[in-house]
Amino acid sequence: MKFLAISGSARRASTNTAMLYALQSVAGSMLEISVYDRLGELPVFSPDLELDPPLAVSALAKAIAEADGLILASPEYIRSIPGGLKNAIDWLVSRNEVIGKPIVLAHASHRGNDMLHQLRIILATLSDRFNEDLFLRIPLMKLSPDEVAAHLSAPRHQEEMRRFLDDFANYCAPAVRLP
Ligand SMILES: Cc1cc2nc3c(=O)[nH]c(=O)nc-3n(C[C@H](O)[C@H](O)[C@H](O)COP(=O)(O)O)c2cc1C
Repeated sequence: MKFLAISGSARRASTNTAMLYALQSVAGSMLEISVYDRLGELPVFSPDLELDPPLAVSALAKAIAEADGLILASPEYIRSIPGGLKNAIDWLVSRNEVIGKPIVLAHASHRGNDMLHQLRIILATLSDRFNEDLFLRIPLMKLSPDEVAAHLSAPRHQEEMRRFLDDFANYCAPAVRLP
């Protein structure tokens, strides 16, 4: 099974991106997670460009099409969704790749509930398989990269991340796990 983990942060030392790479590293051998942390490469969306989209957009759409599920993790900017993530979603909204795609949220801060609320509304609009009940939250805001790494390798968080991935894998392919 393949998941695509999309970070809504373009920051080099992003805690959300670090959390997605930690998910990648705890994933078992049956699960392949690719981290997409290149939202900054997408041009600003215009409906005029949809018929012949830029390469970066086509590459993201292909990665989504090939994934069995999407995990999104994003910071909150000004009580809202960062422009880069919203721009990516604008590119995807009238395409086929996200329709019916299982999607879950992860979040690397104890704050950001306004952004989460808005993103949940958008994702439920994009896909009828957005699962609001599966949610991973590991507060890492304002920690240094070393502290972030230490938190993410703590047994409690490793277990939380494994359980989250297991639950999402079950949601994506319930039949696979049935006795
Ligand atoms: C421009 C800007 C605006 C922000 N606005 C908010 C905000 O409204 N609410 C909030 O809780 N945090 C806000 N933050 C803090 C980020 O959401 C927070 O630091 C987040 O954990 C960063 O995620 P990252 O490490 O993945 O980049 C803001 C940060 C920036 C740079």
